[in-house]
Amino acid sequence: MTHHTYVPDLITPARDTPLAASAPPIFQASSFLFESYAQIEAVFSGRSDQLVYSRGDNPTVSELEALIARLEGTEAARGFSSGMAAICGAVLPFVKPGDRIVAIEHVYSDAYRLFETVLRRFGVETVYVDGTDTDSVIAALPDARMVYLESPTSWTFRLQDLGAIATAAQHHGVISVIDNSWATPIFQNPAALGIDLIVHAASKYLSGHSDTLGGLVTGPSAMIKQIDHEATHLFGGRMSPMDAFLVLRGMRTLELRMRAHMQTGMTLAKVLNANPMVTKVHHPGLLAEHPAGLRGFGGLFAFDLAGGVNVEQFCDALQVIRLGVSWGGPESLIVPGQAACGLAGAANSFQRFNVSPRTIRLAAGLEPADVLLADLTQAIDQAQAIAA
Ligand SMILES: Cc1ncc(COP(=O)(O)O)c(C=O)c1O
Repeated sequence: MTHHTYVPDLITPARDTPLAASAPPIFQASSFLFESYAQIEAVFSGRSDQLVYSRGDNPTVSELEALIARLEGTEAARGFSSGMAAICGAVLPFVKPGDRIVAIEHVYSDAYRLFETVLRRFGVETVYVDGTDTDSVIAALPDARMVYLESPTSWTFRLQDLGAIATAAQHHGVISVIDNSWATPIFQNPAALGIDLIVHAASKYLSGHSDTLGGLVTGPSAMIKQIDHEATHLFGGRMSPMDAFLVLRGMRTLELRMRAHMQTGMTLAKVLNANPMVTKVHHPGLLAEHPAGLRGFGGLFAFDLAGGVNVEQFCDALQVIRLGVSWGGPESLIVPGQAACGLAGAANSFQRFNVSPRTIRLAAGLEPADVLLADLTQAIDQAQAIAA
């Protein structure tokens, strides 16, 4: 799959849809009925794949599953009720007590909490490695069960060499998983680099409108089958038909939106990088070199405010950019690390991985870049004046 893929063509509206509808129908049904005993018996004995129940399969969800598999160049996919349900779906079916997971430092905070609470309680240990140090990732792989990646990482936006890690993981028989929510299939196809399972928080860029939650896991059919047996049927956190429709709708403009998020994010990152009141900008686009495979950048990045800027005043001085978690929608949002460091919970990835309290995570939305720049600049100026 190349980056020239035009997403709407892959959705095939008006070709395969009933009544040649220009958008896919929402099969808002919990179950599907049988004409006879023979039919239901054939399904239950595995001789027929007729639809049964939407916790298993639903045509609207299947449409999205087929689309993400086509875009990622994988064999099959499964939709979940959130990105976290998808992460659970990609990880839990493959681990047992005594197993070890190798995860990158600065992994998404709730993935970290999953590893450190639920999985640790069930006897699965997770070790964390600096993902930018490919040798140390590879050195941790022998005897591990799984390597869990996120390129770039949350809050610090550090990249991993996916090809090198995937090759080593295959050599050691280690399952490789990546959260590809930030790059989306428009900018990165990890399967082409040898990664086994790709997770998407469809709540972010894929849906793109801050109006739904969803998750997807895609990869080889055999692995998706195992995920299907356990995660979709038994954990039950399945994507709903309405949410699948919303993600499908969002994905028709994915490529266009990603190019806008990238451009605005890059513009803001460069200007902030030149601002003396910003000590560091965490954006992969500012690096001189990138590992192979990354073709573009999401609009989510972070920057550290200098000591002379009052973080609280900066946040409250913003007029256009709003305070809010999540990202990937049309509106620009920030999360201050200073507040996130206080996140309740026994396991706090902000403290564990030393995310600076002066770090601000910024999701560049679809507003004009100059409006966002003016907002950031006036907020920095105001917070400086107050701090001084
Ligand atoms: C990188 C990343 N992965 C996964 C998730 C989880 O997705 P969801 O909120 O849909 O569970 C998030 C954010 O919420 C995220 O930022």
